[in-house]
Parts: sequence; structure tokens; C-alpha cells
Amino acid sequence: MEVIYSIELMQQKSDEWVRKNKRIGFVATMGFFHEGHTHLMKEARQQNDIVITSIFVNPLQFGPHEDYDRYPRDERHDTLLAEQAGVDILFLPDVEEMYPRPMQVSMSITDRVNVLCGKSRPGHFDGVITVLTKLFNMTRPNRVYFGMKDAQQVAVVDALIRNLNFPIELIGLPTIREVDGLAKSSRNVFLSSVERDEAIWIFKSLKEARQLVVDGEKNPAIIVKEVADTITRRTSGKIDYVELLSYPHLTPVSVIEQQVIVAVAVQFEHTRLIDNLLFDAS
Ligand code: PAJ
Repeated sequence: MEVIYSIELMQQKSDEWVRKNKRIGFVATMGFFHEGHTHLMKEARQQNDIVITSIFVNPLQFGPHEDYDRYPRDERHDTLLAEQAGVDILFLPDVEEMYPRPMQVSMSITDRVNVLCGKSRPGHFDGVITVLTKLFNMTRPNRVYFGMKDAQQVAVVDALIRNLNFPIELIGLPTIREVDGLAKSSRNVFLSSVERDEAIWIFKSLKEARQLVVDGEKNPAIIVKEVADTITRRTSGKIDYVELLSYPHLTPVSVIEQQVIVAVAVQFEHTRLIDNLLFDAS
């Protein structure tokens, strides 16, 4: 595995692979790897000639009072895990090089972002599409791999790729969980041990929701209330949102009769967790 810091060098390399008709798989990350990340890399390894993983904690997608400054970092451990997952290039661009000041272009996404994290984190997905556009231009991937843990992000990347005609195939992979069901996240380290025990109820409440639908419940309001009640009863976290929407368009549904997503965000004392479950009415 080679570690590349320079954007210019990254571009030179990817241009060369494109010329040689190599298939490039790309996994964008903010580091502090766990199996959710390495699963994406391993999948990319199986389907491409070259696998590139980037680590870049993107200031543009954090709000002023969010956790940019204390986002967990561990470059040494990440390097080891990326190597074990079969990554060819670990790309670590520098923030000054990534964002020359002042930036003279800005991007914003208008659809699929008025709900869920897009609503509670204004500007977040503008930051995500900006950095991804730049990273796609630097790494020139044929396929990009994203986790359904961030289902709205997958929907946003889908819109980005279609709207801007990136010649890229988007692959969304299922959420990797701890044995007790908690979605793996770099932010889980900020949970106290009591909160860590409580946090299993997030996924449990989503599974209860799915069961209600399987049992015939078609009213979104009832499902949302059940999930919210369970999380309120079983955790000390504060609910940021619980929503049931169509997927990937993320529009409200009045009767559950197609593919839907139930998504939640819960604010604990030092960290905010998100999770979701995608399921069909049938
Ligand atoms: P980050 O949170 O580091 O996540 C990188 C990728 O790993 C994303 O596609 C995310 O959905 C996936 N991922 C995280 N936890 C997962 C889990 N438990 N199961 C499956 N996949 C998981 O998402 C970002 O970084 C950033 O927004 C980024 C796309 C890099 C843009 O800055």
C-alpha cells in the first residue's frame, strides 16, 4: 500500500490508471476505521483493479458547534487496517491544499436534504457533495462505495452522480453492526458505558417498527410514535428526529405501501448517533 498526501500526485496516478483501462474503486472516509469502513474497502478490492481510500476530516460538512475539532483520529491504526483490507492507495489530502482560501465556487444540493440530517445539520450535505466532487476528480473512480448507515448520504451521492453526470457506479452496502445491534460508528467511543448499554435500543426500536409493518400497520405516524416512545423510555438520549420516508427520494408517505426508510438521530451527552432501517411493506 502506498500513502499519498499530495493532490497532484494522486491525480497523476489515477490519470495513468484510467489511461491503462484499470478499474478504480474508491472509498471516501473521515478515518478512525472500524469494520463499517473496512467492509467497503474489501468489497471494493473484490470488484476493481485498484482500490483507493481517502481519509479527510472535511471541515465544510461540520456545523460551527459540531465535533470537527474533536473528531477521533488514528492514522497509524487506520494505515494498518487499510493495508489489511487490501487497499492500494491511502490518500490523505491536506486541508489547506483541499480548500484554497477563499474558495471561489460553492455547491449546494436542494433535493433530498430538507429532512433527517439535512434538516438538523444545515449545510452539511453541501459540504459532503463539495468534498466528494473534489475527491472524485482526484481519484477518477469507476465505482464508489458508501455505507447505508448514512442512507441519506447515499441518496445525496446518487443525486450528485446523476445530476453532474459523473461516469461512476454508486454501490451502497449494508450497515455493519456490533453483535448487540448497535451500528458501528467512529463516534461510539464518546458514549459513556451507561449510554452504550442504552444505545442498543435504537436498533431494537427500528426492528420493532419493521415488525409492526410486517404485521400490517400502514400508518407512518403510528410507527414513528412507537420508535420515539421506545427510545425515550429506554435511553437518556434526546431524540433529534424519527422519520419514516420513501427511499431514495426521501419524501413523506401517508400510507406505507412501498419501500420506506425509518431513520433516527439521538443526541447523547457527548455524541449524536444515527441509524436507520430500510424495508418494504410486503
Ligand atoms: P465516514 O463517517 O468516515 O464514513 C465513511 C463511509 O463509511 C461512509 O460511506 C459511511 O456510510 C460508511 N460507514 C460508516 N459506518 C458504517 C457502518 N457501521 N456500516 C457500513 N458503513 C459504514 O461518511 C463520511 O465519512 C463522510 O461524510 C464522507 C463521505 C467521507 C465525506 O466527507
